[in-house]
Amino acid sequence: MKPHALVSPGTLLEHVLNSMDELLIVLDPALHVAYMNRAARDLLNFHDDSYVGRHFFEDLRPLIVPRSNRPTVIEEVLASGLPQRGIRRRLANNRLLSMNVVPLVENGRKRGVLLTGQDITDLARMEEELDLAFALTLPNSKVEHKLKTTPEYADRYDPVTGKITILRVIEDGGYRHVVNALRIFAALRAQGVTQLIGIEKDLLVQALIFHDLGKSQPNLRPGDVVHPREVFEESKLHAYRGADIAEHMYKLPADAVEIIRYHHHAEHELPAHFPWRLKPMFRLFQVIDGLSAAITRGGVEVQFSLHDCTLRVTEVNARPQYNGTWEIDLYTGSRKRLTQPDPASATPAR
Ligand SMILES: [Fe+2]
Ligand SMILES: [Fe+2]
Repeated sequence: MKPHALVSPGTLLEHVLNSMDELLIVLDPALHVAYMNRAARDLLNFHDDSYVGRHFFEDLRPLIVPRSNRPTVIEEVLASGLPQRGIRRRLANNRLLSMNVVPLVENGRKRGVLLTGQDITDLARMEEELDLAFALTLPNSKVEHKLKTTPEYADRYDPVTGKITILRVIEDGGYRHVVNALRIFAALRAQGVTQLIGIEKDLLVQALIFHDLGKSQPNLRPGDVVHPREVFEESKLHAYRGADIAEHMYKLPADAVEIIRYHHHAEHELPAHFPWRLKPMFRLFQVIDGLSAAITRGGVEVQFSLHDCTLRVTEVNARPQYNGTWEIDLYTGSRKRLTQPDPASATPAR
């Protein structure tokens, strides 16, 4: 039976919106509230529709996402026309919300802003506990500090201009990137990858933790449109610096240092002295680094399976054009695409 046979289409939408745990608020271009669902009304203590027409900043202060002197996220979204996702805001009752702010555009005109919010208090507490446990494994507070202050950027690439538009700043992106890389490695380990001759768990973990410590990121804001080659340093240079840091300041084993040094080299660019025995680990490192970069910048899920020394990866992206399944033979380096697109077109690690 079709749903509209039960209730009228308008009523159905109202039922759906009010059954959601996520809060939903619609603002007009002047930031007056046009609609709230039940979850939003409950959170903000409205028992009827007296919220309609209230000004978001003046009357609903608890939900504003302040950023010192900068425009609020909502104003940024209205000005840029670009959505911002995953903005965290702690409320007066100490609950933590993750909010998405999406512009409502119809026929090229900005009609307002849609806010959705999810209570992530319990999830964030678990994350915090895991982060604390992970921080204990880092060699010292300088490494932790560097990772937590190196931003990463979620962006949108325009193939016509070759430029990217910054969508979101991940302030502790360096840290998230390492945590995601270790999570991927743990998932691969469950598939048996560390049983392979040539894949050393401890060495790869060290290389993953240290590999981007030599990175220096530009300071960008959402809405900035930049040419990546002009604002981001050539990746090989941070790899060289990272290798120096790992070798001389933290006395990492020589093999981990070599993987860090060449982690942005394509395989054909490797120097002749790069030993074969490191290549399976080098290839695995690059797979993990690339997938973690994509996950850290948002919206990708990955699945793996391992057959002998061939790793099969399936990516499910927020941008479906990047979806695809591909294989890499960790011993020979040969890659095979099983479904579109080419893995080389997936978000590269910077
Ligand atoms: Fe890197
Ligand atoms: Fe990286």
